[in-house]
Amino acid sequence: MTGWALLGQAGDLAEHGQWITGWVGTVPVVVRNFSGSLRGFRNVCSHRFALMLTEPAGRGPLRCPYHAWVYDAEGIPKTIPFNDSDFHLDDTARQALALPAVAVCLTGGLIFVNLQADADPALPAQWLTNGDGTLPDGSVIKADGTIQHRSTKARTGPC
Ligand code: FES
Repeated sequence: MTGWALLGQAGDLAEHGQWITGWVGTVPVVVRNFSGSLRGFRNVCSHRFALMLTEPAGRGPLRCPYHAWVYDAEGIPKTIPFNDSDFHLDDTARQALALPAVAVCLTGGLIFVNLQADADPALPAQWLTNGDGTLPDGSVIKADGTIQHRSTKARTGPC
């Protein structure tokens, strides 16, 4: 499946550590706030392909519930319990096990995802605004993807 899918709202991921999950077709995805950067991945553990986060939203690390592998902002398993005794995964091996990334777009206060990691993030904003950056109510989508509501825009005429 290709194309952008709506996953949530900006407020769902306002703080570091917050995450939301959902599906793009039959593919489970997760988006997490990593110190202000929204990163998205397929929500399937690289170890034994378990569904990792099963709640619609939460706060905490990207940790698989089965053997507690924890993934970082690049989708790489950084914490692997018993790695030294059981798995022996070095940095190269860990990178090879990185979660497949999905593209994330925050625009108009909404969070969209696309299974193609290199998808054009301009498209969701164009859908919402007919390409001019202005929402139907006159509010404006700012460069950081948040909305400047019409009522807070500078007035240019007499009140
Ligand atoms: S299945 Fe995820 S850590 Fe083992």
